[in-house]
Amino acid sequence: MDLSTEFCGVRFQNPVVAASTDMSRAAARFEELLNSGVGGIITKSVTDAAALQAKGIARFDIRDQDQKPVSGEIPKNYTFFSRGGSMVSMERFEEYAGDQLEQARERGVVLIGSISAAKKENWVAYAKRMEAMGFPMLELNFGNPHGEAAGGKLGFLLGQSEELCCDIVGAVMQAVGIPVIVKLTPQVADMTAIAGALAKIGAKAVTVMHRYQGLVVDAETEEPSLGGFAAIGGPWMKPIALANIAKIYRGGNGLSICGGNGADTGRDVAEYMMCGASLVQIGSTLMLRGPEAVSGILSELAETAEGKGLKRVDELRGRIADKIVTYKNLGELPARESHMDLEQCEACEEKICVRRCYFGALSAENGRLEKDGELCTGCGMCRHVCPKGAVTLSYI
Ligand SMILES: Cc1cc2nc3c(=O)[nH]c(=O)nc-3n(C[C@H](O)[C@H](O)[C@H](O)COP(=O)(O)O)c2cc1C
Repeated sequence: MDLSTEFCGVRFQNPVVAASTDMSRAAARFEELLNSGVGGIITKSVTDAAALQAKGIARFDIRDQDQKPVSGEIPKNYTFFSRGGSMVSMERFEEYAGDQLEQARERGVVLIGSISAAKKENWVAYAKRMEAMGFPMLELNFGNPHGEAAGGKLGFLLGQSEELCCDIVGAVMQAVGIPVIVKLTPQVADMTAIAGALAKIGAKAVTVMHRYQGLVVDAETEEPSLGGFAAIGGPWMKPIALANIAKIYRGGNGLSICGGNGADTGRDVAEYMMCGASLVQIGSTLMLRGPEAVSGILSELAETAEGKGLKRVDELRGRIADKIVTYKNLGELPARESHMDLEQCEACEEKICVRRCYFGALSAENGRLEKDGELCTGCGMCRHVCPKGAVTLSYI
C-alpha cells in the first residue's frame, strides 16, 4: 500500500500528522515522535500573548465515558479536558526549532510551524522568521479555545471574524512563499462560510478543526474542573469533525483539508479521508497513548484501504463525501423498513419495541407483534432496543 501523499505541493510519507500540542516541546518526546512513523509534525504554537506563555498554566483532566477521572488504562472513548496555553515565544522557539527542523529533514518528516499571535504584525513577522529558518509549511492557529487570554483578539475569537481572519491570512500569504494552512475554529455558525471567504482570498488549505471550549464540573465539591472554561475533545468529537470536513470538501472551492479533532485509530483516519481530508492530524490520542500508537494507526489505515482494493491510501479521499444526502434534497434518501422475526417476537414477553415505537407502527395483540407498514418510517429504533436481535432493516 502506497501511504504517501502530497499536500499543497509538499510530499508526506503518509497522511498522519502529529497535531500541535505539548508533545513537540521536550527534546526527548520530540525525538520519539519523529521516530514514530508520522508523516508530519506541527509544532506547539508560537505566540506573542504573554499570558499564554506563562509557566504552569497547562492542566489536564482526562475522564472516561462515565465522567470518572482516568487512571491507568486509557479508555476507548475518553474526554480530554485541557487548560493548555503554555505556548512558546518566538525567541524561545528559535532557540530549538532549527535543530528540530534538521532532525525532521533527516527522517523525511514534514515539520510544520504553528503561529497563534494576537497582533497582525507578529503573525507576519513570525511567518517570515519561520520561513527563513527553513519551515516547509505553516499552520495558522485561528482556533485555540483560550482566545480571551489576550484581551480578546486571539485564537477562536479571531477565527470567528471573517474580516480579521482573512486580513491576517492575506498578509501572511503575501509575506511568505511557503504553503499556509488555516486552522479553523468550530465555534462559528458556519465553518463553510469562513472557509469560502478564505478560498476567495487565495487560501489553499484549512485544518478542520480545532477544539471547542467546554466546562467540566464536580457536583460534590461544587468546583469547576481546571478552574473553569477550557478546551475539550476526544474521540466522541469525530462525527462533528467529519460533518465539517465533508461540508467544506463538498463546497467545491478546492481547499485542501487537513482533518482533525477526535481521530483515535487508523480506521478513523480513513474516515476523515473518505469525508474529504488529505492529511489527518492526531493530538490527544498521541499524547495519551504515546507515539508508539502511530504504527498501529498506520497499519490499520493501510488495511482499511487494502480491504477496498485500493493501491494508494490517497484514493480514500472523498469517497463518502460525494454520497451525502443533505436536508436540502431529502427526497433522494432511499426508503427503509424494519422486518421482525415474528417467532422470536412472540416468545418475547417485554416487547419493548412497541413502547419505543414513536410512530405508532407497532402493537401487540395476544402476544403477537403487529406492524403497520404505513406508519413504519424505517427509523430503526426497534432494532436498537430489541433485546433478542430479532429486527433487521432494509432499503426499499
Ligand atoms: C494539551 C493540548 C495542547 C494543544 N496546543 C495547541 C497549540 O499550541 N496550537 C494548536 O493549534 N492546537 C493545539 N492543540 C489542539 C490540537 O492541535 C488539536 O487541534 C485538537 O486537540 C484536536 O485534535 P485531537 O482530537 O486529535 O486532539 C492542543 C491540544 C491539546 C490537547
